Amino acid sequence: MNNIFLISGTRKGIGRELCLHFLSKGATVIGCSRGEGSIQNENYCHYSLDVSDETAVTAMVREIAEKFGRIDVLINNAGIASMNHILLTPVSSVKKIISTNFIGTFIMTREAAKLMTKNKYGRIVNMATVATPLRLMGEAIYASSKAAIVNFTEIASKELAEFNITVNAVGPTPVKTDLIKNVPKAKMESLLQLQAIHRYGTFKDILNCIEFFIAPGSDFITGQTLYLGGVNP
Ligand SMILES: NC(=O)c1ccc[n+]([C@@H]2O[C@H](COP(=O)([O-])OP(=O)(O)OC[C@H]3O[C@@H](n4cnc5c(N)ncnc54)[C@H](OP(=O)(O)O)[C@@H]3O)[C@@H](O)[C@H]2O)c1
Repeated sequence: MNNIFLISGTRKGIGRELCLHFLSKGATVIGCSRGEGSIQNENYCHYSLDVSDETAVTAMVREIAEKFGRIDVLINNAGIASMNHILLTPVSSVKKIISTNFIGTFIMTREAAKLMTKNKYGRIVNMATVATPLRLMGEAIYASSKAAIVNFTEIASKELAEFNITVNAVGPTPVKTDLIKNVPKAKMESLLQLQAIHRYGTFKDILNCIEFFIAPGSDFITGQTLYLGGVNP
């Protein structure tokens, strides 16, 4: 059933790993990120775009519709973070984070879901973070952008249920990617202590949740955010 994947943020990090995994399972993957693609595979197609660019995303989904006629799975992975005390946070930084994380997720979801409704099938997985339920100091804007994604996931799941489209979210703990490379080690270690299981998350931990959400047997699971590491909502 799940043959055509659209994944955002595939140039590096978790998105790239997701892409390689689903390609290895025989899927066709359309990926996007602002930069050039970093995957060479005959079943992979890269769009260099910003997920918050409505015109570019709409054009990409139109081309996918023409070429493949469907999107089975959308993974809204593209995201940016910035650690800063609110007293030191410029509005330009807030706009950038909300624009990529929340508006990008919204545009990608709206456009992909339009195509999914035609096939009466779809699986959408969004990226949340444990920074939201942990209310992490220094991450007010990032955590809030992801809190918006959690609420969006819940309401979108209701609005899209009649089309057999599920919408869920994964809330990873820190995973060693470029996203967190500038956070001081001592700070990271103290964050890990807030989890029930005090270790970094891995790509496989995230994949495990995503595979669960997109499995055929998960058609009765929607509107959920699954936090990793034993962090409660
Ligand atoms: N790593 C963690 O600790 C962690 C924890 C919780 C949640 N997450 C979430 O997991 C997701 C992936 O994070 P990651 O750790 O893999 O980060 P990453 O290594 O920094 O990769 C981010 C990816 O998103 C793309 N991207 C960024 N802004 C974009 C935009 N405006 N439009 C299109 N693509 C964009 C980047 O490519 P370009 O630069 O080419 O655009 C890159 O491929 C994010 O949503 C993040 O919030 C990560």
